[in-house]
Amino acid sequence: MHPTTHLTKGAAAALLLAAGVSAAPSPGTAVTCENNASNNTVYTAQNAQFDILCGIDYSGGDMGAERVSTFAECITRCDSTPGCINVAFAPWGMCWLKNQNTTPSPNSGVWTAKSKAALTGLTCIDNFSDKKTYTSPGGTAFDIACGVDYAGGDMSSRNTNTFKECVDACGSTPGCVNVAYSAPSCYLKSAMMAPRTNSHVWAAVRKDADADPLTCENKKWDAREFTTKDNRVYSIGCGDDYAGGDMAAVDSATFQGCLEACDAASGCINVAYVAPRCYLKNVANPPAKGTHVWGAKFLRVNVPTPPAPTPYTCNPCSPVMLNPSFDDGTNSWTQRDVSNSVISSISAGSVSGSAVQVVSTRGYAVLAQKLSVVTGSTYSLTVDYMFSAAMTNCYLNAFINGGWFWSFSPRYEPTSVGAWKKSPVLQFTASACDTELAIQFVCTAGESVTMKLDNIKVTGGPTCPAKASRSLRGLERRRLA
Ligand SMILES: *[C@@H]1O[C@H](CO)[C@@H](O)[C@H](O)[C@H]1NC(C)=O
Ligand SMILES: *[C@@H]1O[C@H](CO)[C@@H](O)[C@H](O)[C@H]1NC(C)=O
Ligand SMILES: *[C@@H]1O[C@H](CO)[C@@H](O)[C@H](O)[C@H]1NC(C)=O
Repeated sequence: MHPTTHLTKGAAAALLLAAGVSAAPSPGTAVTCENNASNNTVYTAQNAQFDILCGIDYSGGDMGAERVSTFAECITRCDSTPGCINVAFAPWGMCWLKNQNTTPSPNSGVWTAKSKAALTGLTCIDNFSDKKTYTSPGGTAFDIACGVDYAGGDMSSRNTNTFKECVDACGSTPGCVNVAYSAPSCYLKSAMMAPRTNSHVWAAVRKDADADPLTCENKKWDAREFTTKDNRVYSIGCGDDYAGGDMAAVDSATFQGCLEACDAASGCINVAYVAPRCYLKNVANPPAKGTHVWGAKFLRVNVPTPPAPTPYTCNPCSPVMLNPSFDDGTNSWTQRDVSNSVISSISAGSVSGSAVQVVSTRGYAVLAQKLSVVTGSTYSLTVDYMFSAAMTNCYLNAFINGGWFWSFSPRYEPTSVGAWKKSPVLQFTASACDTELAIQFVCTAGESVTMKLDNIKVTGGPTCPAKASRSLRGLERRRLA
């Protein structure tokens, strides 16, 4: 349900502010979901045609959000933005551009336009090129793997405008065996590390990645750099004998195995390989050239690409939120961006004890609260609400860290007027410990409306074991180990 999750806090604040002062969508626009008028029709923009889907949201895949006044303007923005294939328009004047069609879900507050243009070129948008083979101009074939990260093994990085440019750069770089592309960052890699799922990484793996084993046969790897699985980079010198400085000798069936033995031996900085004998050295004597020895000199440890964020535990045993039902007044909530509105804590007519009331005349008001959440966990938000009148241009919005993910207007559901209603269950996945929930009430066209809120509840996340049993389990684990 969240058309956007990527707005920065600053952008969100600007949004919240703008939402209260900008004009309502102008009536009589050709393409509209007012009364579902344009539902299931095709809208022709300058470059592409778009299917109009009223009350449907393809959440996620956001490229950015912009204030616009009409649905047509929103579609035009997408039509002229490279990579945009879908928009979500919220009729209070917000437009999200998307570069993916995710799974659609019903959301009465969202109007969607979905491009009919076919995807072309090399792209992981909608997994378009996934599992396909791509051949770069130099004739190197790559297997495309969308959403896969072979983290580590980096040899260099650059910014490229397209995935193709990134893969082509690998194709023309000796020793490059795969790339990770997370637009616009392009990482060239000289070693195949273990793959892991990472939805925003697009990978291309040289088909012959394993067909280029480290060898000095025909001086194949001479003067090239080789990266081992431990991310240590060696310069290969076919015929270089780093005589002396021996710390140990082992047998290894392969040259690569010899370098791995050096990795494992503390202090080892170069090797001399005379198959199967592998001499590990801790002194860098100048090499004798032109021998039958396959030499390698340790250069550096690569700094691997930052690993995908692992779920981070952030006060998992605190309540997710304080005062969901306003029973201590609005003290746990920050009131801000209040303009032409009055926020008060009330008890009459509330579902349980107390509730909050916002009276707005062409205004807006935000109630915000920090949540105690665990990154990567999924939470459910529910809100009880009541509007005093079925005003066309009043909306109740919910934001997580500035990312709008729910909007509701009484015009879509007249039965919410004068009666408490329960919102649908709105789910979000916490992307950071430092998470803020903001509930915004906004009227854009001069109405005087009262809205009441109660039971703003966020639940979910990991269950918190009792302290005693947790330490007991730790103890058992230690004993078993
Ligand atoms: C729009 O369509 C939805 C779903 O079919 C329906 O529930 C709603 O009443 C319609 N709204 C109008 C104004 O026709
Ligand atoms: C829009 O049209 C589609 C296809 O006819 C229909 O399934 C859907 O319920 C309609 N939506 C609304 C909101 O009317
Ligand atoms: C792409 O494929 C992956 C793995 O099959 C899947 O999890 C993901 O949802 C797909 N993404 C899109 C946008 O279809």
